[in-house]
Amino acid sequence: MLKIAVLISGSGSNLQAIIDAVAGGVVQAEIRGVLSNRADAYGLTRAQQQGLPTAVIAHGDYPDREAFDQAMIRQLDSWGIDLVVLAGFMRILTPGFVQHFEGRLLNIHPSLLPKYKGLHTHRRALEAGDSEHGCSVHFVSAELDGGPVIAQARVPVHPDDTEAGLTERVHKSEHLLYPRVIGWLADGSLEYGNGQPRFEGRPLAQPLQFVFDH
Ligand code: GRF
Repeated sequence: MLKIAVLISGSGSNLQAIIDAVAGGVVQAEIRGVLSNRADAYGLTRAQQQGLPTAVIAHGDYPDREAFDQAMIRQLDSWGIDLVVLAGFMRILTPGFVQHFEGRLLNIHPSLLPKYKGLHTHRRALEAGDSEHGCSVHFVSAELDGGPVIAQARVPVHPDDTEAGLTERVHKSEHLLYPRVIGWLADGSLEYGNGQPRFEGRPLAQPLQFVFDH
C-alpha cells in the first residue's frame, strides 16, 4: 500500500478529493499524515474530520528555509512515507528538500505547464486571450513549477469567462486529475527513474492529456 503525506497551506479541496478517493477505495493508498505550514489552514479540519494525523510546522518559527525544510523532512520521515503530495502548499522548497524526496514528490499546478508558472495563472490565461487553460500534475524538481509533467487536464475558456468561473472549473478538473495520478503510482503504472517518469513500462515522452466533462 502506497503511504502518502499531503502538504497544504489553505483550503485543501485537493486534499479532500484525495481523501475521498482513498476512502472510496478508488486509490489504494494510505494517508499517513497531513502537514501544514499554517495552523489556520482549513485542510487541517478536513484531515481531522477523517481521523488523519496532522502536523503544523510554522515557517515563521524557523530562522531560514533550510531549517524549516529540515523540520518538515524529520516529520515526513517519521511518518514513513513513499510519496509527498503538494496540494496548495505555498512555500518554495529548498533543493535539499527536493533532493531528499526526488521521485517521491508530486505537485499540482493550475495551468498547462510550461505556461504560467507562479501565481495568478487564471487571470494570466484570460488576459492572454487563451482559448484553453487547465492544470498539470508533475514531479517536482528544484526549479519552481518545473520537473517532468505527468498529466494535464485541459479546460476550455468561454468567451464571457470570469476569473472566478474559470478558477472553479479548473479546480474541478484538479480534483479529478490528482487522485488519478496518485492512483497510477499506487498501482505501479507510473514509476520514476533517472529523472524521468515511466508510464506502463515506457518513458513518458509527453504528458498524458485529459478533458473532463463536468
Ligand atoms: C490549487 O489551485 C492548486 O493547483 C494550487 O493551489 C490550489 C490549492 O487549492 N497548487 P486547494 O487548497 O486544494 O483547494
